[in-house]
Amino acid sequence: MQEPRNVNKVIRQHLEMNEFLTGGFVVRGRDLTQQQIQNDEATDNKEMELEKIADEVRQCRKCPLGSLRTNTVAGEGSANALLFFVGEAPGADEDAQGRPFVGRAGKFLDRIIAAMQLKRCDVFIGNIIKCRPPENRDPKPDEVANCLPYLQRQIEQVSPRVIVALGAHAAKTLLESTKSIGELRGQFHEYYPGFARPTIKLMATYHPAYLLRNYSLDNRKRVWEDMKKVLSELGLPVPDQSKK
Ligand code: URA
Repeated sequence: MQEPRNVNKVIRQHLEMNEFLTGGFVVRGRDLTQQQIQNDEATDNKEMELEKIADEVRQCRKCPLGSLRTNTVAGEGSANALLFFVGEAPGADEDAQGRPFVGRAGKFLDRIIAAMQLKRCDVFIGNIIKCRPPENRDPKPDEVANCLPYLQRQIEQVSPRVIVALGAHAAKTLLESTKSIGELRGQFHEYYPGFARPTIKLMATYHPAYLLRNYSLDNRKRVWEDMKKVLSELGLPVPDQSKK
């Protein structure tokens, strides 16, 4: 199997070799401290693991969705993201492009992320299942059971401070809850990443597709209230939407 590309690693090795040859510590104006090298290495490792997971997803034929898809949609974003959004499953646009949340609901998610004064590349975006269910039907329990380990491993690698579960399906699956999204949203829950690992704060909120179908000021306000709590939890500034 071809080894995953790792551009950061190649650049770092080049810089380190330069440093060795010049005998200096400042390489092209950049101070390569030990800490920085360690941080870069940690990021490289996470990126390589995430690419490995995406590769496994591309090969996956564990359920019939594997033969119906155009593309797998493993997820994308920063390996160091503090915030991890989880949706339900790819739709037609995502299946066509192999990227999460790029259709109408995706454009709405982009607006939510922008309102939080963040960029897509600051966060990680994934789904409970990685292939599009036909006619966008709900994922079946065995499809979720087969696919969920990929997401669990992605969360483990990124190790975010907060997960936002978009919609009932993501929230109920990640929290192993039978409560409705109306009951789950608006407060933090604990996501259990597995034995002996620290829990991660999880905020459930309405799915952007639900917001598009039920486009009321109240619903949008509810989602914004949820996102303000997320920003506070992350120690990030909370923009005042009333001034916009
Ligand atoms: N809806 C989802 O839940 N995920 C996507 O990636 C797109 C739409």
